[in-house]
Order: sequence, then C-alpha cells, then structure tokens
Amino acid sequence: MKSINSKGIKAAITAVSGYVPSDVLSNTDLEKMVDTNDEWIVTRTGIKERRIARNPLEPTSFLAIQAAKQLLEKKNLDPSTIDLVIVATATPDMQVVATAAYVATQIGAHNAFGFDLQAACSGFLYGMSTAASYIESGRYKKVLLIGADKMSSIVDYTDRATCIIFGDGAGAVLFEPSENEYGFEDSYLRSDGSGRDFLAIKSGGSLYPFDENTYEEGGHNIKQDGQTVFKNAVKNMADAAEKLMTQNDLTGDQIAYLLPHQANKRIIDATARRINLPEDRVLMNIEKYGNTTAATLPLLISDFESKFSKGDKLVFAAFGAGFTWGAVYLTWNYDYNN
Ligand code: UT7
Repeated sequence: MKSINSKGIKAAITAVSGYVPSDVLSNTDLEKMVDTNDEWIVTRTGIKERRIARNPLEPTSFLAIQAAKQLLEKKNLDPSTIDLVIVATATPDMQVVATAAYVATQIGAHNAFGFDLQAACSGFLYGMSTAASYIESGRYKKVLLIGADKMSSIVDYTDRATCIIFGDGAGAVLFEPSENEYGFEDSYLRSDGSGRDFLAIKSGGSLYPFDENTYEEGGHNIKQDGQTVFKNAVKNMADAAEKLMTQNDLTGDQIAYLLPHQANKRIIDATARRINLPEDRVLMNIEKYGNTTAATLPLLISDFESKFSKGDKLVFAAFGAGFTWGAVYLTWNYDYNN
C-alpha cells in the first residue's frame, strides 16, 4: 500500500555500508567438496565465488557490527543518537535473544532498542518498509537497518543443492526523515506459509525441537527443493515488481535501476524481462558473493552507491523462504559526492 503520511514525513536512506569476510570459497573449491563443476554453477546460477566467515568467533553479529561501524565512520554519526537497530537475519547468533540487541550495544547505540526481523531472503526488503514506517510515524529519527547472514553456519557442505548458492555477508543502511522530496515511496509485500515445506531448517524450533536424532538427520542444516523454490521465485518476484510499478504508474524506462535479491541470475533475468529493463539497469554482484540472504540488497546498494543520483527511481525485489516476497520503490536521496 502506498504510504500516506499525515505528518508529511518521508523516510530516506541517508547512508549505506557493506561488509563481507575476506575468505573466498570459489567454484573450483566446491568441485573438491561435492559433485559439481564451475561451468554448471556459472550457467545455472551466475555465481563464481562467495565469501565465508571461517572463524567460529565471527557469527552473524560480527558481520553486522563490521557493516554498522563502517556506516558510523562514513557518516561521522554518534551511535548514541540511533533510536532503533533492526537486524534482518535468518541466522541469528542464538535462538531467543535478538542479535540486534547485541549489535546495538556493541556499536555504542545505548539509547536504541533492537529487534530481529526474520523473513529470510526478503528480510531486508520487509525491513525497509518497517524502518520507513518508524520514521514516518514521527516518533523516531534514526533507524539503523542491517541485513546480515552467516549462511555458512547452516549450510551442509556435502549438499550440492545448497552449498553452491550461499555465502556470508552484511550490509547496513540508515533511515532518517528526508530533507527533500525523495525517499521511500511504496511497497508490495506478500507471503505464503505453505512454502515452508520447500526451503527451511527443519529442526531446532518449537515444531521439531532438537533431539537425539535431529543431528544425525541433518535437521540443523538448511534444505531446499531447488526447483520448487526457483519456480515460485521467478513468478512472484516478477509479479511483485510489476504490481508495484503498476500501482505507482511507473514504466520500465522511468526506472534507473532494479536491485533484485541475488539468489540466481536466471531469476533476476526473468524479473528484469517482465518489467522491460535492459541488462545495464539491473544491478548484480551475485558472481562474487552468491546468495547472502538478508544481506544481498544492502550489499548491492553499497557496491553501486556511486552510480546513484538524487531522484533516481529504484525498484527492489526479493523472494525467500517462508515463502516471503515483494518489491519496494524508493527515490534515491543523495548524490554520492556531496
Ligand atoms: O533466495 C531463495 C533461496 N533459494 C533460491 O532462490 C534457489 C532457487 N533454486 C535454484 O536456484 C536452482 O533450483 C538450483 C541452482 C538450486 C538448481 O538448479 P536447477 O537448474 O533447478 O537444477 P535441477 O535441480 O533442475 O537439476 C538439473 C540437473 C540435474 O541433472 P539431470 O537430472 O538433468 O541429469 C541435477 O542432478 O543438474 C544436476 N545438478 C547439479 N549438477 C552439478 C543439480 N545440482 C547440481 C550441482 N552441480 N550443484
């Protein structure tokens, strides 16, 4: 729904940063681990390599903190002025406690509250809508939204249906009241809970708590029916982008860039085709990071920040476990060099 704000406050992204671990896991490395090959992975997914946080002392919070600290430095921002920290993640440090609370404390955001947002690969997309709503309410001035996932902590590196896709990373954006007419414009968000049978970690929740068998069965690892996920992703990501554009009277030639969730290049290409966007206006970094789940969108913004100009119309689209999916439309708020 298009947000109509009686207070006249518009929310905008005013800073961005990204962090990926330095260790690279290439397709050639994976050839030595499972029955696969570089040519298959590149043709079927577009991924050449991904980053892995091999150090067990570097969980999701570590990735999130690195991204957040970079943002604070870049923006010269006093962390005590932050009102809220949201961490979108499917791989929280621990069950029950919010990773965001720990991240907020570690970066010195002592006046903030923090919570996690779990919508898997759509987490950051949903998070943009959530963060914008807090700003639009007029009650909060600075919301730090982080997408962070240590997918290597839940991937079974003998399962070629998942290990070739996922990587680790984090990205952070700051939402503030816009000082011009640009910022968060609209969203189209959906979910379908019947999708949980096709992409999930089965054990460890209240439905199938860990027991003596769950580890043996690999219930602690992420599993997917790749083809079912793929078909739903192609349909729903493209549908969401198209519907969002229709409800905002937007045509492909008005869009500066599409920033799609980076799960598979073929899903991205299908979405771009549906909204008539040529390749040079579709942003991708999947070849170097793979699918970093909630981190793909902020890492895209961070990698391509220098390309954006004030007023550029950007469309984001994502699809993930749940199933969850949707699209967000925002007009970019600042010029890179100012
Ligand atoms: O963000 C949301 C999270 N996940 C996704 O969005 C993932 C969505 N799914 C996908 O990206 C794709 O389904 C995969 C990349 C996981 C798999 O690609 P696919 O084109 O759907 O492969 P497939 O499962 O249909 O298998 C095609 C063939 C099969 O061989 P045959 O039966 O045609 O001889 C598989 O055995 O490719 C084989 N195969 C592989 N070969 C080499 C499947 N996985 C691999 C592999 N390496 N890793």
